[in-house]
Amino acid sequence: PTVFVLNGPNLNLLGTREPEIYGSDTLDDIAGRLEDRARELGLAVDLRQSNHEGHLIDWLHEAQAEDAKTVILNAGAFTHTSVALHDAIKAITVPVIEVHLSNPSARESFRRRSFIAPVARGTIAGFGALGYQLALDAAARL
Ligand code: DQA
Repeated sequence: PTVFVLNGPNLNLLGTREPEIYGSDTLDDIAGRLEDRARELGLAVDLRQSNHEGHLIDWLHEAQAEDAKTVILNAGAFTHTSVALHDAIKAITVPVIEVHLSNPSARESFRRRSFIAPVARGTIAGFGALGYQLALDAAARL
């Protein structure tokens, strides 16, 4: 069983991007740890990143077509803007776990609205890179 781990805009810059908010781990560091944990759980992870909204939508459709077990989604700033991602999650039956490194509720008011949260199975936010591993553990138990 495969868990898709989809990452949105600016997350390719993890490690150097506002490290006081997002930590110093790169997306490759996160991917490496997820792969180790996935192996222990008997899962495979397929981690991807794009700065383009349409790619994320295509990958959600692909998760459904390929019968992925779960999608872990950090949609970055599209979280707060994208009706199209909201609709794509609604259109598939694969459960989606929303992840954020930071705690958007504790930041600027424009980050308080999530278009993902109402259609996600659940949300993990504020635990930095650890959040991805918590989400993978949750995925294994769903
Ligand atoms: C983020 C939070 C978003 O508000 C922000 O736009 C990001 C990263 C996080 O992981 O904390 O790009 O999704």
